[in-house]
Amino acid sequence: MSTKASPITIQPSQALERILSLEIVRVTERAAVAAAGLRGRGNEMAADQAAVDAMRRELNNLPIFGTVVIGEGERDEAPMLFIGEEVGRRTGAKVDIAVDPLEGTTLCAKNMPGAIATMAMAEAGTLLNAPDVYMEKIAIGPGYPKGVVDLDASPEANIVALAKAKGVKPAEITALVLERPRHADIIAAVRKSGAAVRLITDGDVAGVIHTADPVNTGIDIYLGTGGAPEGVLAAAALRCIGGQMQGRLLLDNEEKRERAAKMGVKDPRKKYTMEDMVRGDCLFAATGVTDGSMLRGVRFGRDVIETDTVVMRSATGTVRWIRAEHRQLDKFHLD
Ligand code: FBP
Repeated sequence: MSTKASPITIQPSQALERILSLEIVRVTERAAVAAAGLRGRGNEMAADQAAVDAMRRELNNLPIFGTVVIGEGERDEAPMLFIGEEVGRRTGAKVDIAVDPLEGTTLCAKNMPGAIATMAMAEAGTLLNAPDVYMEKIAIGPGYPKGVVDLDASPEANIVALAKAKGVKPAEITALVLERPRHADIIAAVRKSGAAVRLITDGDVAGVIHTADPVNTGIDIYLGTGGAPEGVLAAAALRCIGGQMQGRLLLDNEEKRERAAKMGVKDPRKKYTMEDMVRGDCLFAATGVTDGSMLRGVRFGRDVIETDTVVMRSATGTVRWIRAEHRQLDKFHLD
């Protein structure tokens, strides 16, 4: 009988998470540092491009067969990290990648709170391939009965149901909403129910994540329409930390419906649950670019760059907050 220990076999999904959960931190860190170098310059495109370049460079160092399913746009409009682009060293696990190298381009350009660099990774074929259109969204944190809120219910009905499930009055509920003219009715309806509204100017990935920790964030529910790519990224995060989310693509003309159909969307009015948007285990990471309520932004010292990142694994629900000090500054390709 051999005394050699038999090799431990791990499933592809386990391998994906165990090996890559810290690797993806490097990806969002590099993108955040690149964008942070252009904070407050009033140039959204330049900051976004810097983040895209850095993120793509790092993704291509990962030991994966990656396909971008949520990216900078569709192939004809985005030269880098376009939907369908293959990334990674073409070895290891086959994975779907969702990226938003700079979520909150305006926040970064104006040096306002809340810009992040973010990505999610999941087993190949398990992330919703969403076109770059709007998505109606509703999200709440963990601990509520399934289906307590619903995208098709009115904002008032959702607030009342959520308050009841939480055991509080509607007046003790706060809804986070993107400040946009299109949300005037939602904002009025939430206020009419007695609940409070917190408005954000941008950044609904972090907005949705806020619902997972109402005690610290003060946010119970996210309501409104934002980007579909951001919706899938937020669903990945909530899948890791718990909560409920629904989304519906806003395919309000034939051209959008055709684009969606090409990506496999069969029913243009489908109400996606979080589990429809992220069908298996996933990883999610975000690094702060500017200071925000979730993450501090990048700090540039003379010889050290500091970053704050959150990385999550759905398989275990582990959430790691990583404060990194980077000393090999040449790795960041800074001018
Ligand atoms: P960008 O980083 O692409 O500018 O997105 C910021 C954002 O606020 C998202 O968080 C949100 O989903 C989307 O824009 C809302 O779109 P719009 O600004 O068109 O209302």
